Amino acid sequence: MSFDAVDVIRTKRDKGELSDGQIDWVIDAYTRGDVADEQMSALAMAILLNGMNRREIARWTAAMIASGERMDFAKLSRPTADKHSTGGVGDKITLPLAPVVAACGAAVPQLSGRGLGHTGGTLDKLESIPGWRAALSNDELMRQLDEVGAVICAAGDGLAPADKKLYALRDVTGTVEAIPLIASSIMSKKIAEGTGALVLDVKVGSGAFMKELADARELAETMVALGTDAGVKTVALITDMSVPLGLTAGNALEVRESVEVLAGGGPADVVELTIALAAEMLAAAGVTDVDPAEKLRDGTAMDVWRTMIAAQGGDPSAVLPVAPEQHVVPAPATGVLSKLDALGIGVAAWRLGAGRARKEDPVSAVAGVELHAKPGDQVTEGQPLLTLHTDDPTRFDRALESLTDAVEVATSYDPTPLVIDRIGE
Ligand code: URA
Repeated sequence: MSFDAVDVIRTKRDKGELSDGQIDWVIDAYTRGDVADEQMSALAMAILLNGMNRREIARWTAAMIASGERMDFAKLSRPTADKHSTGGVGDKITLPLAPVVAACGAAVPQLSGRGLGHTGGTLDKLESIPGWRAALSNDELMRQLDEVGAVICAAGDGLAPADKKLYALRDVTGTVEAIPLIASSIMSKKIAEGTGALVLDVKVGSGAFMKELADARELAETMVALGTDAGVKTVALITDMSVPLGLTAGNALEVRESVEVLAGGGPADVVELTIALAAEMLAAAGVTDVDPAEKLRDGTAMDVWRTMIAAQGGDPSAVLPVAPEQHVVPAPATGVLSKLDALGIGVAAWRLGAGRARKEDPVSAVAGVELHAKPGDQVTEGQPLLTLHTDDPTRFDRALESLTDAVEVATSYDPTPLVIDRIGE
């Protein structure tokens, strides 16, 4: 059946409900180029302003899945479990998590993306390992999942192509923040990928997409409902992103820290979140009686990491690159560090070269920010608080500007829990 794009836009502009037929048609016609970018922008803005109900979101997601291929992991000997984070500063959790979960007996098909803006991308981080390659064919992906149990690679162009086109359009039309569009964008890719179980890490706080807990909860509930209705066992954790995760934000810096976690050390918050997400993934995949913390302690997760990196051409023993230019930011006062703002640190890392402003920009492997203290720690005026890393010293000034209000020292600190809530059965 054919519809008129202007009628579809008017329906949503006037706060109406889109019919299943309208949704199927508009997604298909947009993917084929029969609905123009300016028409889809108007529709995306109408959705941002007027929302969509559960039926519309489910149908929109199904139409985006139908725009491309679906993968099938049914032939694998192990159950599959994947994790998706809505993105944050210093969020390197995928790197230790995939090998830990594989070491416990599930298979982890982690199809990942690159960073845009102040949040880093998993593929950018791994590409700081000499020789590692992100692009795998579907056959290579299946073989590695079977043999190693964990794959972190680029999502192929065949999965939800409607989302690729629509996400690029939303990025330049101020329509990224619509919860129905974020939920359908993420879940169409995850459902098309074919994972049996999915754990969502929905970030909330200054460094996240969702600044308010109520919005994070709505996004988490919407995504859990979409996954569950599609037959994927889906659970969401809502986690704090007002402070960066761990002590590093930047590509090679975060790989180094992830390897520390795999070696049984690393910052407490990174270890805590890795284990919490691993436990959820294993439970959702039906793998019981295995302790992910033990797999970090006994070195089996590290063995999977090394095999996984080598399988994609990387050298797990290679020395990671280090920035030629470094600048130390001292603590401004003596007392308890009470604020280390994730957004400020993330923007600083981005301005130092760790992130990109446009999809096609290159990123620096070595740029980023290293933290020497976290909120709650006692600091002394003048002690090193942050080290900024870059290839290009002209970037320091702009990075320092983004840190102006990012740091506060007080007499006490009231900590927020890292895992704030859990949504799902
Ligand atoms: N990540 C996605 O994949 N899609 C969105 O819309 C937002 C974040």
